[in-house]
Amino acid sequence: MKSYLQDEAFKDKLVRIRNDFHANPELSHEEFETTEKIRRYVTDLGYEVLDIGLKTGLVARLRTKEEAPSVLLRADIDALPIHEASDKPYASKVDGKMHACGHDVHATVLIGAAEILAAQKDTLPGTVYLFFQPAEEVNEGARSAIDNGLFEKYPIDVVLGQHNQPLLPTGTVGVREGGLMAAVDTLRVKVTGKGGHGAMPNETIDPVIATAAMLQNLQSIVSRNVFPLEGAVISIGSIHGGQANNVIPDFVKFTGTVRSFSEDVRELLHKRIHEVLEQTAKAYQVEVEIEYIFHLPPVSNPKEYADLAKEVVRDVLGKNAAVVPTPSMGGEDFALLLDQAPGVFLWLGVGNPEKGIEHVWHHPSYDADEDAFAPGAVVMAEMAKRMLEHVKEV
Ligand code: NI
Repeated sequence: MKSYLQDEAFKDKLVRIRNDFHANPELSHEEFETTEKIRRYVTDLGYEVLDIGLKTGLVARLRTKEEAPSVLLRADIDALPIHEASDKPYASKVDGKMHACGHDVHATVLIGAAEILAAQKDTLPGTVYLFFQPAEEVNEGARSAIDNGLFEKYPIDVVLGQHNQPLLPTGTVGVREGGLMAAVDTLRVKVTGKGGHGAMPNETIDPVIATAAMLQNLQSIVSRNVFPLEGAVISIGSIHGGQANNVIPDFVKFTGTVRSFSEDVRELLHKRIHEVLEQTAKAYQVEVEIEYIFHLPPVSNPKEYADLAKEVVRDVLGKNAAVVPTPSMGGEDFALLLDQAPGVFLWLGVGNPEKGIEHVWHHPSYDADEDAFAPGAVVMAEMAKRMLEHVKEV
């Protein structure tokens, strides 16, 4: 097989594809032009585009000699409502929109991997599906594909995804067994008392003071109930209540986000949040309505595929290329795909401080090192092939 890592034409093509995506970002659910470009690229490579009823994004298949098993390779494609701070030639042309999470890189790397796999079409030990996923930033793209029957219509045995990581240097890939990205749950609470004059609190049931106690008590859950070496976060991001300085309002509302890395801790947080809020409400004589939404499970890599990924990364990029990253409290809707089929999620190192590329995801100066695109594509293609071989063996 030719070495795509040394192939200048291949590398230049990936840079051109990415710079075009980067200059023309589209937000979640609006990735129409991006999808059209992807459609042309993958059709030219010999993939057939499958209709699973998505408005944006697409699923494509490479027909090979051996139909089973099959692997799904996923890249998200949406941008963010952030104004890019960059004077680079490929900076966003759209005010207030930016590929600040590098999903342009993911789409590019997957197109590169698709090319490498298409060239091995006759010898691949199974079928390759590509999923260019819309609307990751709003946690809706993976769910919509699943709801549209992606896993029922097509016999997908294993899934593979990759996210760029500017905190890891180019030439490395972060592979972690277990929790890599957090479960994301949302908390919405309404605390109802009885309003009245601020000078006569004894005539009221004050939801403001009850809320203050609730917020304090909630913070004891992570520090007192969760095992200290497990990661968990409860953050309250909004509180609304009252209008005037001297009026006790009828109610207060607050919302928050809850993060964890395992289903056990997730369930513990859910249970304790209910108990703490309900018991505090009782103590302060208010009513509490709790809406707890389980949004995304954690991205947690099974040992089997984490080990396989380490082996692949070492084989294709060198023996020191596989690194164990610190997990992120951020969420990723790839977790929903991992719920449907086993697989692995990798972090592609795209950081290069010498080029000034060191800003984190969602930062207006975020960028990714173009020297990481070909390695990302090679790793993804090789990993896909080995996953197919692995499924066949077991
Ligand atoms: Ni992202």
